Amino acid sequence: MRIRISWKFFAAFTLLTIVTIVILTVLLVLWLKNDVEAKISQRLESNAVLTGEIFKSSMARVEPGDIQPVVKDVSDKLKLRITVMNNQGKVLGDSERDPTTMENHGDRVEFKNAIEKGVGMSARLSHTLNYSMKYVAVRVAEGDEIVGVVRIAVPLSEVQIELNKLYRAAISGAAAAIFIAVILAYLMARSISSPIRRMKKIAERIAKGDFSEKTLIKGDDELADLAGALNSMSDELQIKIERLRQLDRVRSDFVANVSHELKTPLTSILGFVETLEDGAINDRDNAQRFLAIIKKHARRLGSIIDDLLRLSELESGVKMEIGRVNLKELLDEVVMGFGHALSAKRQSITVESEAGDFSVIGDKDKLEQVFVNLIDNAIKYTKEGGKIKVQLADSQDFVVITVEDNGIGIPKEDIERVFERFYRVDKAHSREIGGTGLGLSIAKHMVLAHKGEICIDSELGKGTKVLITIPKTQK
Ligand SMILES: Nc1ncnc2c1ncn2[C@@H]1O[C@H](COP(=O)(O)OP(=O)(O)OP(=O)(O)O)[C@@H](O)[C@H]1O
Ligand SMILES: [Mg+2]
Repeated sequence: MRIRISWKFFAAFTLLTIVTIVILTVLLVLWLKNDVEAKISQRLESNAVLTGEIFKSSMARVEPGDIQPVVKDVSDKLKLRITVMNNQGKVLGDSERDPTTMENHGDRVEFKNAIEKGVGMSARLSHTLNYSMKYVAVRVAEGDEIVGVVRIAVPLSEVQIELNKLYRAAISGAAAAIFIAVILAYLMARSISSPIRRMKKIAERIAKGDFSEKTLIKGDDELADLAGALNSMSDELQIKIERLRQLDRVRSDFVANVSHELKTPLTSILGFVETLEDGAINDRDNAQRFLAIIKKHARRLGSIIDDLLRLSELESGVKMEIGRVNLKELLDEVVMGFGHALSAKRQSITVESEAGDFSVIGDKDKLEQVFVNLIDNAIKYTKEGGKIKVQLADSQDFVVITVEDNGIGIPKEDIERVFERFYRVDKAHSREIGGTGLGLSIAKHMVLAHKGEICIDSELGKGTKVLITIPKTQK
């Protein structure tokens, strides 16, 4: 059977307190009982002594019954049974019976002890009255002579009444203490178990993928630590799951994009091939034109596939061929390669270097690819007659390269996304001018492979500035 932790705590607390309270109560009652009995004996003894003083002078001479009225009178006042005996045990007066009819009391324990030691006590059945009494007897002396014994008695039931009062008080006190202890134990058990139950519920929700609920962290104990750990686990899991979902989305988007990008030129190629088959092949001029178009699309297919291969290579760990690279020289070379494209759009380009020849340790081919992609974009997305500025600057352990144009710019909401594969701000326009949306994605991977950073600053209609920082050495 499964027992809740709160019940275990509760049972343990309760048991412990009950055992403690019971032991303490029993000890206390035993001690108080002795005290009550001693007090009663004390009272009986002092009353006996006082009564003895009253009869002292006459005790040696009187006959049984002579002092009876006085004995009765004293007994009424004290509300105690009084027996007055001479030193032989003959009863001279008794508050309850006629002393002349009473037997000699010389054999009673309390009498013998009183004669011998001064005080005698006994608790037993009274032969005279036939119920249990507590007796205290004291010896009465005149000068050196023992003249008799005065005995005072109370029914044991009266003593018992006193003790019963004590027992009742003790039992109700203990019961109240146990009641309070049980309530406290319950509250304490609940204060421990309720956060545990709550955390269990939250853990079950997390297991089902619901991260919405958090544990309230109260206090500074192990439970609070556990709650904190549960909360951060939930946060972390949520982030990881979200990331996985996003990766999954990116992957399926990627497959869809690749298929689409490959399909477009392929459809064109197929279309023109069919047209040629249908007879256009005999029309030499048109056939030549169609073949040129087919060739263009086939090239495009080739370049998309090249880009994709490069990306997948980059993603499965970049193989770096490290060497010294003169950046200024490399940039001049790249710009030279764009001579034709630049003059076709009557654009001008400048390469400025803050401190002459800059060298970094890196992979030359990959850095070249980065610059080609950026300058290609700057030319493509800038209107005729535009200006492109490439700058090289030194910043302690880094080199900063900026490629700036005064072209069409990128809308704010797209800036973050242009590094995604296949992402193009204006799909139709980009495709028309031969863009696949892979250039920046490749560039970013390559910069990251150099432990560098790339970011874009752009204003729509004004121009775009791409900023790259690359550490001077690759450790
Ligand atoms: N200098 C720029 N000015 C304006 N927009 C830009 C610039 N560079 C990039 N973009 C925008 O970012 C998109 C992504 O650029 P990216 O270089 O990745 O792809 P692409 O140029 O379209 O194709 P690819 O480079 O693969 O031929 C571009 O389609 C364009 O919309
Ligand atoms: Mg590009």
